[in-house]
Amino acid sequence: MGIVFDEGLIDEIKSQNDIVDVISKYVNLKKTGQNYKGLCPFHNEKTPSFIVSDEKQFYHCFGCGESGDVISFMMKLENLDFIDALRLLGEWAGINIDEISTSKKEKEEIYRKNKIYEINREAAFYYYKNLVKEKNEGISYLVNRGLHIQTIKKFGLGYAKDDWEGLNKYLRNKGYDQESIFKAGLVLERKKKNGYYDRFRNRVMFPIINTTGKVIGFGGRVIENKEPKYLNSPETIVFNKGNNLFSLNLAKNEVRKRKQIIVVEGYMDVIGLYENGIKNVVASLGTALTKNQANLLKRYANEVIIAYDADIAGQSATLRGLDILKEVGCRVRVVRLSEGKDPDEFVRKRGKEAFLEEVKNALSLVEYKIMLSKEGNNLKTTEGKVKFVKSITQILKELKSPVEIDAYIKKIARDSGIAVEAISTEIYGNTKKNKEKKEIGNTSKYRSKHDRYTNKYNIQPLKPIQRIGYIEAERALLKLIINNNNFFKRVKEKLSFEDFADQSNSEIAKRIYELYENTDSIDLEVILNQLNIEEIEVLHQIKRSIVPEENLEKALNDYMKMIQKHKLVQRKIYIEQELKKLEKEENKSKEQIVRIRELCIDYEKLLKELKKL
Ligand code: GTP
Ligand code: MN
Repeated sequence: MGIVFDEGLIDEIKSQNDIVDVISKYVNLKKTGQNYKGLCPFHNEKTPSFIVSDEKQFYHCFGCGESGDVISFMMKLENLDFIDALRLLGEWAGINIDEISTSKKEKEEIYRKNKIYEINREAAFYYYKNLVKEKNEGISYLVNRGLHIQTIKKFGLGYAKDDWEGLNKYLRNKGYDQESIFKAGLVLERKKKNGYYDRFRNRVMFPIINTTGKVIGFGGRVIENKEPKYLNSPETIVFNKGNNLFSLNLAKNEVRKRKQIIVVEGYMDVIGLYENGIKNVVASLGTALTKNQANLLKRYANEVIIAYDADIAGQSATLRGLDILKEVGCRVRVVRLSEGKDPDEFVRKRGKEAFLEEVKNALSLVEYKIMLSKEGNNLKTTEGKVKFVKSITQILKELKSPVEIDAYIKKIARDSGIAVEAISTEIYGNTKKNKEKKEIGNTSKYRSKHDRYTNKYNIQPLKPIQRIGYIEAERALLKLIINNNNFFKRVKEKLSFEDFADQSNSEIAKRIYELYENTDSIDLEVILNQLNIEEIEVLHQIKRSIVPEENLEKALNDYMKMIQKHKLVQRKIYIEQELKKLEKEENKSKEQIVRIRELCIDYEKLLKELKKL
């Protein structure tokens, strides 16, 4: 369905829109070193950490981590989707992408879509007039629920009369053809195929509007207590429930300021919160959150707050939705309302500040899952306790930082009355013997007596520190030496900056080593000005990387060992390949024979060193 642009056009538009020029329209940029620098437009800051590379045509914020090219800059800054960003940049460069890029087929598709948008807009207008022009059940219902007329206007709410053909006749009179009205999902065909009737009757209507302001579909709520409570437009060429969110059009500007978005279940929750001054709110369209919706949310917000109805939170569909959000990289927290069945009821009863307080106290995803598990198990029984600890093991496995895991273990112990040692043992399986066995990869089916007693549910142990790869080890080590000159001195004895295998890590290490020649502490600012944009991104990751808070000595040694080991292993692989090549030679020259001997000696040494590590 989508329009495909050839890379050539995208490159052309990018090359006509120099990133420094484009960003300068929004941000005051100053040249520093290789790059330009200014205040980040994506988060609040007082000192500039937003860096633009002229050479790489790329930007990166050292404060919040946003990065990308000129197109993604426009997408984020102006809340545009890819095509609209391209369209705008194209305009600036005098390129009309609609003319150039679309084939006949694609032009037809655009035409058909535009027609459906138009019909939907007319329908919304019709429903709105029904609601506000004369007395009707719809308006009494909404007013009874406490809605103000401004809100009704803002959301463009409407009323579908109790009439089989009201809308269809209205649209036909406006000149729209029957097939298009049907394709917009607004009417259904009669069984006898002798005509069409309105899909929505005697319902309050909620138009669903996308971020470019087009009406893409409707939700309709019954007025009496009938089933189904809601009827939504079917999927059409312009309406895909899994790709859109109710009220994102109204929420997006607010979200841009706060970087936080609240997701609720119902249309009425969005509206209730909006009326009470909380505008960064959207609802999914009556289905569980999809990956596309999660990506959409991520485009606007750093943090997603889930505030579902009291009855539904915790159901598996909800949990899946939360995991999807996490997978796409959103920070997720969950509100558990202390009162009322849904956010709408809560905010009407208790007001804005009370709701914001609930948001402030929202639980992290891990806390939330732990809480659900606690509620789901009876901690008064041994069986309940075992099940509880087993399930939190799964939950804590998602965490990378051992510090964080330990903090949770302590908290869980406090809250549940289960001893810290008991929980740790289940999680790490960490009696000393046990650990050694696991590390040399012993998967024997016979378990030690101790093992049988302490880990009878065979919970797989975690190895948070060992699990990370050498690139992360390099970064963690860099973080440690940036913060501590003594650590640096120790590292310098064993590793040169060239020993850092990753190119960017090595570049950064080089600057740190140089800087420590003259000073005792590292000013990141100085380093920043010497790096290119890719290295800046890496430095940013280093800044963000998590190092243990306790046992730094051990961490330092572990990281150094890992780096040395990686280097040796690389060398080992190299020698093995060289030897293989040389072995293949039929008539070996004298030099080759000498080389083989040298390599073999090297190899022996290497193996010994590896063993020592
Ligand atoms: P109120 O009950 O009036 O407060 O409405 P609400 O908007 O808060 O809806 P509710 O919490 O009951 O349901 C949440 C959302 O699920 C709704 O906004 C709809 O999108 C969807 N939904 C609820 N009931 C139905 C139904 O019967 N059919 C369909 N297709 N969707 C529904
Ligand atoms: Mn509700």
